[in-house]
Amino acid sequence: SNEEKARQIVQKLTLEEKVGQMTQITLDVITKGKNAFESDEPLSLDAKLVKEAIAKYKVGSVLNTANNRARTPEKWNEVITMLQKESMSEIGVPLLYGVDAIHGTTYTAGATFFPQQIGMAATWNPELNRIGSEICAYETRASSIPWTFSPVLDMGRNPAWPRIWETYGEDVYLTSVMGAAAVDGYEGKNNDLTNKNAVASCIKHFVAYGAEKSGKDRTPTYLPEIELREHYLPSYKAAIDAGSHTIMINSGIINGIPVHANYKILTTLLKEELGFKGLVVTDWADIENIHNRDKVSATHKEAVKLAINAGIDMAMVPYNYNFTTNLIELVNEGEVSMERIDDAVTRIVQVKLALNLFDKPYTDIKDYPDFGSKKHEDAAYKAASESITLLKNNKNILPLPKNAKVLVTGPNANSMRTLNGGWSYSWQGEKVHEFTDKYNTILKSIQNKLGKSNVKYAAGLEYVNDGQYFEEQNINIQEAVNAAKGVDYIVLCIGENTYTEAPGNLDDLYISKNQEALTEALAKTGKPIIMVLNEGRPRLISNIEPLAKGVIHTYLPGNFGGDALADILVGEVNPSGKLPYTYPKYPNALTTYDHKPSESSEKMEGMYDYVGSTSIQYPFGYGLSYTDFDYSNLKVSKSEIAGDESFTVSVKVKNSGKRDGQEVVQLFSKDLYASVTPDVVRLRRFDKIDLKAGETKDITFKVFGKDLAFIGQDMEYVTEKGDFKLYVGDQEVDLKVTSTVKFPKNSNKGIL
Ligand code: IFM
Repeated sequence: SNEEKARQIVQKLTLEEKVGQMTQITLDVITKGKNAFESDEPLSLDAKLVKEAIAKYKVGSVLNTANNRARTPEKWNEVITMLQKESMSEIGVPLLYGVDAIHGTTYTAGATFFPQQIGMAATWNPELNRIGSEICAYETRASSIPWTFSPVLDMGRNPAWPRIWETYGEDVYLTSVMGAAAVDGYEGKNNDLTNKNAVASCIKHFVAYGAEKSGKDRTPTYLPEIELREHYLPSYKAAIDAGSHTIMINSGIINGIPVHANYKILTTLLKEELGFKGLVVTDWADIENIHNRDKVSATHKEAVKLAINAGIDMAMVPYNYNFTTNLIELVNEGEVSMERIDDAVTRIVQVKLALNLFDKPYTDIKDYPDFGSKKHEDAAYKAASESITLLKNNKNILPLPKNAKVLVTGPNANSMRTLNGGWSYSWQGEKVHEFTDKYNTILKSIQNKLGKSNVKYAAGLEYVNDGQYFEEQNINIQEAVNAAKGVDYIVLCIGENTYTEAPGNLDDLYISKNQEALTEALAKTGKPIIMVLNEGRPRLISNIEPLAKGVIHTYLPGNFGGDALADILVGEVNPSGKLPYTYPKYPNALTTYDHKPSESSEKMEGMYDYVGSTSIQYPFGYGLSYTDFDYSNLKVSKSEIAGDESFTVSVKVKNSGKRDGQEVVQLFSKDLYASVTPDVVRLRRFDKIDLKAGETKDITFKVFGKDLAFIGQDMEYVTEKGDFKLYVGDQEVDLKVTSTVKFPKNSNKGIL
């Protein structure tokens, strides 16, 4: 087995070589030129620094790119080939190169970019997500990169968090299904990484990253264990069960303890309880952060000891060799055992063996004829078209007639950067222009669709500075107002400029004042406004939403988002996306759909009556179509079940409108009374179906008593006897559970 082979390899390594395997540096460290991250210079390795890294410090892993300039797969192959040759001749063990290829091959010109994760979640189509990840794996491997830091399995439960767009939204079941599909796509269904088209996935950031109290990145999280287990852990369990080979750790502190130094989280929970056998890597500089930022150790060396003894296998250092020298000393001083080191290195070498890197440490682009192919582009277009979510369509203002005259306006109207978001051609999403000429912005796509002469353009506001994340400049609202003369409709494209991680922290969740002003000025023209949202998180639009007749959410839809949107605007594609999060209305009314009863006292008029508060803009799971779907005949195969018995829930869905369409059929359950206050409602199953106009389908879900379980007072899953309600569409049915059953998971109480 790989484990046995890895052990044998590890036995032959010196302590220095072992610790080198545990060291990951950024490419910046071995690249020519100062401040390479900021530089536009073409990439060139510095042979002396490469020698230092590999021959002296025996570095076993490298990540990311040294500057913000996208490069070709050929360039990647050249760089990685050189590093691998050096590594094989010096150490006899190949390097593990990793990048954040999260919706396509980051930093790579010509790569196919899909919608970001939040958009993939809005498709409610896990198979599309699997295909997207498979294509991303193929193109990443084509560039000689065998490891992607994806998918994010943290929960998008705080709308202010600047990484919401990297998540699958607020619901842990949807996240679990999508996450497992992503792992299948990256690694292949049987996780056979010797397949030349597969990459190792990295589920991140274990655990409960994104639950920060302030909503700001890497600020403190306070989380009770019951909440951890109920809403944050299951997505990781699903991906571990799906066989993901690697995992990255939460940068932050939970209940005052840096996760990187927390033995209970990294070893007791992750490695023992969840049985994770793969490689555990830190996030960026997070061992240093234990000391520098979080002040839990007085020295860096002490931080290294805490982290490695807690269960870290590899440190994303990434800028120096302090980790390496400190860890060697700690082993020599008996502060970190050789057993712990061997365990860590065995885990790392196993991944390298699984990827067949010993035999084939780099690839050749010639073996990847589908890199950036039409086939890949079509799949990205399909994903974008299934993600875009129609949120408002007063008096069927949409679809637009084919001869419509429109004004396209707003800061997001003519930007490829905002369609793609962060982790695209660069970390913060900037510097994309020269690589994106062949793709269409929203403006270009609408021009292609309606004819240039029918489309006017005035930005009104523009994001002009790559360093400015939210502020618009070049404010010329009057120009946009003037341009509205003589058009039938205004397509107003607003939202956010791109950002990733802490640079995206916000003090105010409202959409910017300038964009509110633009909307108000345009509304005064009396022309109907179709509001297009292009943003990484739900910015509050409650001040201006009433001014729009139609609202469409595009999220961050990737290279083909403009084309997909244009097709939806004119009705060539019937929208089928559904919100993967609750769209909030007010800053003090941030809630998730699966909240406790006391968080919502009123019901949402005209919506599913099990969705609670009136103070939300649009509910989780919501999205309109150009056709109508009628639900009837919701039935449960048994009205009573005992314990973990299985049962089926079936429903008839009819497309009663005049257009073919796709519908997401969602099954929710409600536990009426329980020993821990139940969430008002929980998503249990979903299925996306195609229905021709007039067609009816019977949909059946198989469900188990276990699916109704919650984390009880003793931290174990339990399904308690009592009454439940099940909901699909506007239908509901009763179910009784006649006996209580516990599902012991070997849970270790007192993790947090
Ligand atoms: O993978 C990322 C992580 O999500 C955030 N910090 C940097 C890592 C490597 O780029």
